[in-house]
Amino acid sequence: MNACIRAVVRCAARHGVKVEGIRQGYRGLLEDDFIELPPRSVANILQRGGTFLETARCDEMKTPEGIKKAIHILQQRDVGGLILIGGDGTFRGATALAQEGDVKVIGIPGSIDNDIYGTDYSIGFDTALNTALDAIDKIRDTAGALERTFFVEVMGRSRGFIALDVGIASGAENILIPEVETRIEELARDIRNSFERGKKYHIVVVAEGDDAGGVFPIAQQVWERLGLDYRVCVLGYIQRGGSPTARDRILASKLGSAAVDALVAGKTGYMVGEIKGEITLTPLRETCEKQKELDSNSLKLIKVLAV
Ligand code: F6P
Repeated sequence: MNACIRAVVRCAARHGVKVEGIRQGYRGLLEDDFIELPPRSVANILQRGGTFLETARCDEMKTPEGIKKAIHILQQRDVGGLILIGGDGTFRGATALAQEGDVKVIGIPGSIDNDIYGTDYSIGFDTALNTALDAIDKIRDTAGALERTFFVEVMGRSRGFIALDVGIASGAENILIPEVETRIEELARDIRNSFERGKKYHIVVVAEGDDAGGVFPIAQQVWERLGLDYRVCVLGYIQRGGSPTARDRILASKLGSAAVDALVAGKTGYMVGEIKGEITLTPLRETCEKQKELDSNSLKLIKVLAV
């Protein structure tokens, strides 16, 4: 997000537009917590994780009163355009602001879950993916040395995008995701078969939103069937931090620039995204209503590669 804020500030300066940052997202908006962001104020943040503007969950923005208050503050400050980085919750508020206020609104997809409709990738996903990959590579060393099966839980909220991609990249034998019903018998059979084929250990990546009750009960149920030596590892919040990857910095810079271009061109109520390498504009409302599909070919590939 820092790379994106930097891009917004500097591209806006190129257009002669003054930028102010709002601290802690919608919470800061409702508390009128704005700070000036001249071009040099965003120096040396490109490589830092998180967001120097900070963020917060804000229930008040889900209410009509909250939206009214936000519009009032934006009007009082004579704000001409608002750029928001986030996902579903952020864009629901943004849609209401675009519809009910005069301010022009452009969204930028930011979520490690990569579950936002209207873009191939959202800011943060690639960094989270690489963090999870690095962790699983390390886990594999122990799995191999001790012939132990590992059940590794990754984030993703209710979607399996991180699990699917890290599953392929790490060479996991199975991935369990919310989009596909988990059948313990099938999983146990896969693991038994792989041992019979000569494998010494097995890595199962479990998305946190999987429907089978969570990584611990899943591992326990497999153990009840096979009696194997296993460990569970929940990767958790390490996936949300750290210095962004090159891919994330580039995506953030491109989308920040595209958001400024859209505002300057008078657009409002859209999310900028990147699909097949092209910058796109998707109505914010659509990003909330439509569901992003998982790549079914990737799902098949996991099975083919785990021989
Ligand atoms: O949406 C990003 C995410 O990290 C999810 O992967 C995870 O389920 C959730 O946020 C955690 O949210 P919180 O910080 O509120 O626990």
